[in-house]
Amino acid sequence: MRNFRSIRRKPSAADGDLALFLSRWIRAPLRIGALAPSSPRLGREMAKAIDVTRPEPVIELGGGTGRITRALLEAGVAPEKLVVIENDAELASLLRERFPELRVVKGDARELLALLMPLGVVAASAVVSGLPLLSMPHETQRRIVEQAFALMGRDGTFVQFTYGPMSPVGARVRAGLKAEVTGRVWRNFPPASVWRYRRRESVA
Ligand SMILES: C[S@@+](CC[C@H](N)C(=O)[O-])C[C@H]1O[C@@H](n2cnc3c(N)ncnc32)[C@H](O)[C@@H]1O
Repeated sequence: MRNFRSIRRKPSAADGDLALFLSRWIRAPLRIGALAPSSPRLGREMAKAIDVTRPEPVIELGGGTGRITRALLEAGVAPEKLVVIENDAELASLLRERFPELRVVKGDARELLALLMPLGVVAASAVVSGLPLLSMPHETQRRIVEQAFALMGRDGTFVQFTYGPMSPVGARVRAGLKAEVTGRVWRNFPPASVWRYRRRESVA
């Protein structure tokens, strides 16, 4: 007969991530922006939106516990090309532990170019963002998106997920960019859409 002991299971790494995420969210809900880490499916959908074969670095913003980071590596982004920016000290040190082969920078994405300068990173093919952009003021969004495109030049791709129905990059900030939804992930908490932004002249 099944009893409670037989269905009790050992806590998994995912349970640990959820607990950590919740504890960070309780301290700073707007800065963390989600109750739970992205699902592996959402990570894969984010990675599908970029061209992983390009030689320039890929920058991930707001790495969290590393769900999107892992998906980018599994999709074929070479570890030496991937740089992760994370502003929460505890999450940044978890990312360093989990991905010792990567460059993880503890810092604010609003200072993107200055954070990358000491690493000698002055160009990128894609910026993949897990930042809570929607809860950021327009000026902060603009500052982050402009620096991302300054880094990427003409053919860059900025990717952002959102839980809402609208573009997570505000209308004034995305002027001059082509915005498209590249995927929807129902098996995520909450369900999410992946948005891709590219310069209009590069996709015309
Ligand atoms: C919604 S969580 C996403 C985490 C992870 N990418 C995922 O998908 O599970 C947002 C992450 O962005 C980080 N973050 C928020 N504002 C930031 C900023 N200005 N600069 C860098 N990281 C930031 C938070 O600490 C948090 O880890």
